[in-house]
Amino acid sequence: MSEAPCVEAVVFDAYGTLFDVHAAVRKHARRMGESWEAVGALWRQKQLEYAWVASLTGPEHWRDFEVMTRNALFTALNWYGGASLDLVDDLMAAYRALPAFDDARPALEALRAAGIGTAILSNGSRAMLAEAVAAAKLDRLLDHVLSVDAVRVYKPDPRVYRLAEDAFRLHCSRIGYVSANAWDAQAAAAYGFRTVWVNRINQPVEFAMHQIARMAADLEAVPEMVLS
Ligand code: LAC
Repeated sequence: MSEAPCVEAVVFDAYGTLFDVHAAVRKHARRMGESWEAVGALWRQKQLEYAWVASLTGPEHWRDFEVMTRNALFTALNWYGGASLDLVDDLMAAYRALPAFDDARPALEALRAAGIGTAILSNGSRAMLAEAVAAAKLDRLLDHVLSVDAVRVYKPDPRVYRLAEDAFRLHCSRIGYVSANAWDAQAAAAYGFRTVWVNRINQPVEFAMHQIARMAADLEAVPEMVLS
């Protein structure tokens, strides 16, 4: 008799893990000149920084991730020469419809074929996530799309990770967690999920990741990894 797999559900981070966050600046690269990549990197960094500051400042100062993302974009564009409202609006529209990485769909399909539950757990607002999931046509491959809007605090606050346990009614030890963001993977592992850090760009190891999580170069290896 074969044993049931330990993991019954796998939860994915959204931005940078399933969705290519740099696709928005790539799409409008010509309008930013040679600094477009730097704008993209600073946009992401400020977006996360503003979310962490909002979390730590307290619930009355919490604003959703769309606000964090837009404010961060203004900062990044101003840093490199100036933000026009048109460009901000166009980049935000592109961000709301980011493409999924090519390996996202096959990974989700493989998990579902194995009878494993699937979800997104993200700092993204409900509206942003709904648009991104629909644009990438991933809706039928996900049991839950979980937004921090439900708890009004951002990752890596443990209240966010608890949303996945509540949604699947499973203890974290029965849930796999997949993130390309090292800080998110470390927090998920600390929470108790069976975590995979997806290191797409061969970054140096942070947070002693090799001790707390599995490591994969992309999402292709993830189903086998979380199920074994
Ligand atoms: C998310 C960001 C942090 O989707 O990548 O939660």
